[in-house]
Amino acid sequence: MPDGALLESKKLDLALARAARQRGTRYNVYGTPQGDPALRGEIAKRAIRVGHMLAPDDVVITSGCTEALTLALTAVAKPGDTIAVESPTYMGLLHTLEMLGLKALELPTDPVRGIDVLAVGRFLETERVAAFAIASSFNNPLGSMMAEADKRALLDLLQRHDIPLIEDDVYGDLYFGLERPKPFIALDGGANTIYCSSFSKSLAPGYRIGWIAAGGRSHQVMERKLAFSLCGAVLPQVALAEFLASGGHDAHLRRVRQLLQGTLASMADGIEASFPPETKMSRPSGGFVLWLELPKPFDSRALFDRALEQGICFAPGDVFSASRRFRNCLRLSAGHGWDERIADGVRRLGLLAHGLLSAG
Ligand SMILES: Cc1ncc(COP(=O)(O)O)c(C=O)c1O
Repeated sequence: MPDGALLESKKLDLALARAARQRGTRYNVYGTPQGDPALRGEIAKRAIRVGHMLAPDDVVITSGCTEALTLALTAVAKPGDTIAVESPTYMGLLHTLEMLGLKALELPTDPVRGIDVLAVGRFLETERVAAFAIASSFNNPLGSMMAEADKRALLDLLQRHDIPLIEDDVYGDLYFGLERPKPFIALDGGANTIYCSSFSKSLAPGYRIGWIAAGGRSHQVMERKLAFSLCGAVLPQVALAEFLASGGHDAHLRRVRQLLQGTLASMADGIEASFPPETKMSRPSGGFVLWLELPKPFDSRALFDRALEQGICFAPGDVFSASRRFRNCLRLSAGHGWDERIADGVRRLGLLAHGLLSAG
């Protein structure tokens, strides 16, 4: 998650304190299961800007993107079903699938272009999956992003096979290019897409506020929302709605994007200078993670143990795969500002990687 110091934590604190002071008792109630109407209005307004015509009533507030994904998966799949995912993919998604008794089918994913639609087409001629669950943009851990034409081709393909697409857009606002990449839902109008996102990566991981727009599957999602959590906490929603309505969020996002892009560039330079020359590195155009691949049989778990002894943490590659692939890979997070402490950590990690690689 991004460092709280990069976020608008103070302004959010003020909005929360104001809401509690002025109307705290009124908000100490069960809210509506769909979530605070003003917050849903703010979310819908922002969706329209990226090309998707959402109304506030199309949105259900969730406890982070995690609950949104759980609602989506349980609305379209039952235990024993198979869900197609990118490989590597976000480890939390794999954990959710496991807890729901769902199987993961891993689709080979290019670090730049994402999943290969032609390969998916060949595969769907013989296999059956209940849904696809993939990132809209800047997949975690690769940072990959499918071109808009590929996204459209995938949507067509899934529509033909009557397979719903669950998209996870938590990193979409953190783009470094000129325009925000379009989510799938903006390309098919939500006909076959369930959209999941949250404020966790760009504004308020601690508020645990996400949302889902499930289109024709809204009824199934609402039934599950009621069963799993009744409704979300009211005060944080009200505070977040006030914060968004007060303006300044776009300027905040611009600042965060710039900071994260700078940290990623500095980290990439640090890795080039200190890791073995055979190391391959992703070059994401958004988000804040870097994916490194070292020659096999490099063991990122062994590196992890040694790094941890020195107070350095990263994610070993195999946690991003249900079949424990990518043991020769690792993911570094650049969600903090760049400083000497982190630069030194990258340097020392590179030295450890050199040592392990030469020891074979
Ligand atoms: C791709 C992806 N989706 C979802 C989440 C979880 O989001 P939230 O904190 O909003 O539940 C994460 C967090 O790391 C993530 O990387």
